Amino acid sequence: MTTPHRGAFASRIGVILAAAGSAVGLGNIWRFPTEAGSNGGGAFILLYIACIILFGLPIMLSEFIIGRQATTNSATAYKRLAPGTAWHLVGKLTVLTPFLILCYYNVVAGWTLDYTVQALGNSFSAMAESGNPNAFADYFSGFISNPYLPVVYLSLFMLFTHTIVVRGVNAGIERFSKILMPALFIILIVLLICAMQMPGAGKAIDFIFNPDFDKITTGVVLAAMGQAFYSLSVGMGAMTTYASYFKPDTHLSKSALSIGGIDLFVSVMAGLVIFPAVFSMPNLSPDAGASLIFIALPNVFHSAFQGMPLLGYFFSVAFYALLVFATVTSTISLHEAVTAYLHEAFGLTRRRAATIVSLSAIGIGSLCALSLGPLKTYTVAGLPLFDLFDYVTAKWLLPIGGLLSSVFAGWYLSRHVVKSQMTNGGTMRFRLFGIFLFFLRFLCPIGIVLVFLNELGVFKLPQLL
Ligand code: TRP
Repeated sequence: MTTPHRGAFASRIGVILAAAGSAVGLGNIWRFPTEAGSNGGGAFILLYIACIILFGLPIMLSEFIIGRQATTNSATAYKRLAPGTAWHLVGKLTVLTPFLILCYYNVVAGWTLDYTVQALGNSFSAMAESGNPNAFADYFSGFISNPYLPVVYLSLFMLFTHTIVVRGVNAGIERFSKILMPALFIILIVLLICAMQMPGAGKAIDFIFNPDFDKITTGVVLAAMGQAFYSLSVGMGAMTTYASYFKPDTHLSKSALSIGGIDLFVSVMAGLVIFPAVFSMPNLSPDAGASLIFIALPNVFHSAFQGMPLLGYFFSVAFYALLVFATVTSTISLHEAVTAYLHEAFGLTRRRAATIVSLSAIGIGSLCALSLGPLKTYTVAGLPLFDLFDYVTAKWLLPIGGLLSSVFAGWYLSRHVVKSQMTNGGTMRFRLFGIFLFFLRFLCPIGIVLVFLNELGVFKLPQLL
């Protein structure tokens, strides 16, 4: 199969910002504080860092190796590198997973868009002043169960993603990531400065940086590992596809370190923005769950800045705009992984491939959105479609995908190919090669299998500490 005309990231910073853009998303700003909050704060964060180093980065590197070696989308990559074997099925899985994630991720992306609109229209202070203590919760549940609004917003968000993906790798993904990622850092820093003025800042810092090791249970280990995969965008074809646009002189290990570092930094920053707000409220606890940023925070912005309504307004608009930015660079990577496959494997134009992905993800995504409202009664295995997609992808398909890519790079690819990718054809040194190979061959696969067996209840990891 030939790939006549492929894009490539033009600059080193473009590579890092696009891949970090994929990594940084709702996973950092929405899921991370939720998980850290309900799993004990600092202790969870330490485990999360350990999982990034032990599993996340080696698996990200294995995906980089596969993608750049094959220089094609991730499904074709497995076919090309392992012709005539069953590995092509794994390749297909690495395209199916991002498609499924895209469908339901886009639902939450749509919520962020609506919340930005509400913040701009100053609706949150109207809700706070309404005197109804449940105004925010009512708004949220009313919105997500509305029969058409979530569908409208997810379609708008998809359109946004679509227009960037259609422009291609340079003019679209790289260019937009180079604008959106720095914008995101600036907003985060401004928000951090505001958050540090809040009365709950001291408690928040303590919660994040002062680990309480009694809180470490096996459940916390599992949560930290799942979060590491999700947050780094590993376990499926997104990083493989991006790596196929890397140049031969892109430094794989340095890039992975930068991406992992940025991802972790944004997560911790998001925690430092959200927890001061949470601890400043009398009746709010950090383990309030997934509703934290959609129900608790709009209220927090208003109350925390009661004497300074303008600052409260600014804070809430900036926060939700930040979420939109972070989210779109992630939806781009999910979309691109599928679009690149349809484009290259079936010879469709990029535009047509992207259109097929967008329309079908809008269709299935709408069913996911409606499963929280009008279609609530239709469940699969007791779960609404939205939760089913989240459960199957995050808990099963990502770890399976990560396991398989580490096995593929560690055992199937020749040592020579792996080494040549890690040293850019021998033009530089990679001192940790032996350890890296040990991680790919043994530590990652065995670690992930143990976690699975633990989930299935076949085997219980020993209680730590
Ligand atoms: N990493 C993104 C986040 O934190 C989500 C995401 C984008 C993702 N692409 C992915 C997760 C690929 C797993 C695999 O929000």
